[in-house]
Amino acid sequence: MIKTLVFPYKVSILPLAKTGRVKEVKSSSAKMELSITRPDDWHLHLRDGDLLEAVVSHSAHHFGRAIVMPNLKPPITTTAAAVAYRESILKALPGSSVFNPLMTLYLTDTTSPHEIKLARESGVVFAVKLYPAGATTNSQDGVTDLFGKCLPVLEEMVEHNMPLLVHGEVTDPEVDVFDREKVFIATVLQPLIQKLPLLKVVMEHVTTMDAVRFVESCNEGFVAATVTPQHLLLNRNSLFQGGLQPHNYCLPVLKREIHRQAIVSAVTSGSKRFFLGTDSAPHERRKKECPCGCAGIYNAPVALSLYTKVFEEAGALDKLEAFTSFNGPDFYGLPRNTSKIKLNKNPWKVPESFPYASGNIIPMFAGVTLEWLPSSI
Ligand code: DOR
Ligand code: ZN
Repeated sequence: MIKTLVFPYKVSILPLAKTGRVKEVKSSSAKMELSITRPDDWHLHLRDGDLLEAVVSHSAHHFGRAIVMPNLKPPITTTAAAVAYRESILKALPGSSVFNPLMTLYLTDTTSPHEIKLARESGVVFAVKLYPAGATTNSQDGVTDLFGKCLPVLEEMVEHNMPLLVHGEVTDPEVDVFDREKVFIATVLQPLIQKLPLLKVVMEHVTTMDAVRFVESCNEGFVAATVTPQHLLLNRNSLFQGGLQPHNYCLPVLKREIHRQAIVSAVTSGSKRFFLGTDSAPHERRKKECPCGCAGIYNAPVALSLYTKVFEEAGALDKLEAFTSFNGPDFYGLPRNTSKIKLNKNPWKVPESFPYASGNIIPMFAGVTLEWLPSSI
C-alpha cells in the first residue's frame, strides 16, 4: 500500500454518527491519501427492478467484484435463474463499468446435487447461500433439514470446491435474538464442519466474539468470515439511541460493545480469515420506518470510507488492503484485482437519502460527515 501526503486540510470536529460520539481530526499541514488494490465486496444485496437500478452503481464505482446474494422474490435457486439475474445486473450498470457480479444459489431442501455441477460449469456461480428458513429477509424458502435433505448437495459442493455461505443464526423463537449466532455455532456450524471438514464455509456477517473465536479455531483456508461496517462501528445501543433507530436494524442484530471490540481486533490483526462483506441491504424507506420494519442497512455508498476509519482508529491502516482486497479472492481461489483505488482524507457529507422511482433509500450514517473519500485511479 502506498501512502502519500498531499494538500493541506483544516481542523474539524466530525460527528461519527447520529449517536453523539465525536471524532477529532488533528490539525495537519498535509492531507493523507492511500492507494490500495481495488476491493471486492464478498456479501452484497443488489435486489432487482428499480431498486437494483438505484443501487448498483454505488457498489460498481469502487468495488471490482461482489458476491451477489440470491434472496430475491422468488429466490435464485437454479443456475439458469442466476445467469438471468446476472444479465439484468450487467444491464443496470453504467456503460463504462467493468464491475463483475459473482452469483450465488439459494439453498433449499430440494436443491439437487446436479444443480451444483451446473453452477460450477456455468463459470458465473461462485457459492451457495444457506439461509435457515425464517432467519431473515426472504428466507422463508430456506433450509429446514441441513443434515438430512441437504447432505448430498453439501457433499457435491465439496467435490466442486464450491463454498457454502452461511447466515449463522438459529431460528428457534425460544432462543434469545442476541444469542442466535452463538447457538448456531454450537448446534449447526461446529457439527457441519466436523462432518464435512473439506467443505469451504464462509460465516457471513459475524457479530460476536464467539464467532470470531470459532473462525480463528478452524482450519485456515476452509473457514472464513465476512465483516460488515455496521458490526465494526456500532453496538446495540445504536438501535435505541434517542428513540428507535430503524436504519440501524439488520440481521444478525447488532450486539454488545465487547463483541464489536472483538471483531475490530480480529480484522485489524491482519488475519487472513476475515474479509470485506458489506451486507449492504437496501429497502425502500417506508419498509424500514413502519410498524414491522425490514432488517437491512444500506451501506454501499459509505462502506469503504467506514472500513478505512476503523483501521485508522485501530492504528492498522497497513492491514486495510489485505482485508479489503486480498483475503477474499485468496479464499475463493480467484485472482486479486489489478487496478487500484484512492482513499483521500477529505471530509464529505453522506446524502440524507437516495431518491429513486419507487421512493427513497436511506443510507447508513445519512447526513453525517465522514473523513475518507474513495475514488478510482
Ligand atoms: O439485515 C439483513 N438484511 N440481513 C440479512 O440477512 C438479509 C438482508 C436483506 O436481504 O435485507
Ligand atoms: Zn446479507
